Amino acid sequence: MKVLSNLIVPGSQEYIAKAARIIRDGGLVAFPTETVYGLGANALDDAAVAKIFKAKGRPSNNPLITHLHSLDQLSLIADLDSSRITDWISKLSHLFPGPISLVLPAKELVSKNVRAGGNTVAVRFPKHPIAQALLIETNLPIAAPSANRSSELSPTTAEHVAKGLGPVVDLIIDGGTCDVGLESTVLSLVNPQPVLLRPGAITLEELQALLGPIEIADKFSETAVLPSPGLLRKHYAPKTPLRLRRQVRLDKIPRPAAFISFSREVTREIGCNFDHTVELSGDGDLRTISRKLFSTLHSLDQLKFSLIVVDECTNQGLGRAILDRLSRAAAF
Ligand code: TXA
Ligand code: MG
Repeated sequence: MKVLSNLIVPGSQEYIAKAARIIRDGGLVAFPTETVYGLGANALDDAAVAKIFKAKGRPSNNPLITHLHSLDQLSLIADLDSSRITDWISKLSHLFPGPISLVLPAKELVSKNVRAGGNTVAVRFPKHPIAQALLIETNLPIAAPSANRSSELSPTTAEHVAKGLGPVVDLIIDGGTCDVGLESTVLSLVNPQPVLLRPGAITLEELQALLGPIEIADKFSETAVLPSPGLLRKHYAPKTPLRLRRQVRLDKIPRPAAFISFSREVTREIGCNFDHTVELSGDGDLRTISRKLFSTLHSLDQLKFSLIVVDECTNQGLGRAILDRLSRAAAF
């Protein structure tokens, strides 16, 4: 099979085996998941995990998500003594593997760097076949944040990873474009009531139907004790300034400006006010919008616009995750 560059390789068995060796030896492998690409290292190895923080320029107080191939591995890194927690996990279990991460009480075995020194660990069972193959081949928990520099846009293709991180990664496995396109839902189960720390493709409504009332972490929290440092206000941002549609006056837009429209109707209505318009969906379909959003922002970022203006959608279902990322990207 064709090797795309020195770093980007296909997800064949040969390269899965090579990637697994790199992870076991304490190196860094970027791999596709159904949400975004992750930058993986052995979650039990302090020195390997420290390399992730260095490669990303990530603040050391921001913990990492640990990826597992099956529920059987969970008790290795999470403390499952509480029946309240195991009851919640069984109610959620049909969502695994999938785009949701659970914050649970941690066992000591998981690197303190993964936990950012705390006593909880976020775990996820990714659905992407390449991520699963890598997890099975290494048979180790793999810590993996999104494979981008801290506070920048998450990567949804192998090329985004190569461009953003380059040679600090030992290998990038190419799995094409990520299907969901937005990072996983993060749900904390360590308190008496579940807390939604980050909205994602597994929606708040779905979780409420399964678990009952759910607290929503203040999305712009900047308090000393961070419930989830990924909730810092400025995050997920392209380099080009970005504003939401309601934040701009159409007659005062700096030039040249690009518009990301969510439907044909909106393109017709206001597209003419911009130098360039990208329509993510003809009919406002949220799954299509989420799949294309980050890759569109990555491409527009190359074109040196003065401003990117983005359409808005409902704050329900997947729309909550889309608006969450956009409002952070627009924070200034
Ligand atoms: O979809 C995803 O979740 C991707 C793929 C690669 O799995 N990963 C990802 O990781 O988005 P990252 O590090 O970019 O975002 C993880 C989020 C951060 O907001 C972090 O603060 C939060 O999860 N987090 C991780 N461990 C935590 C913990 N123990 N307690 C609270 N929040 C935690
Ligand atoms: Mg990230």
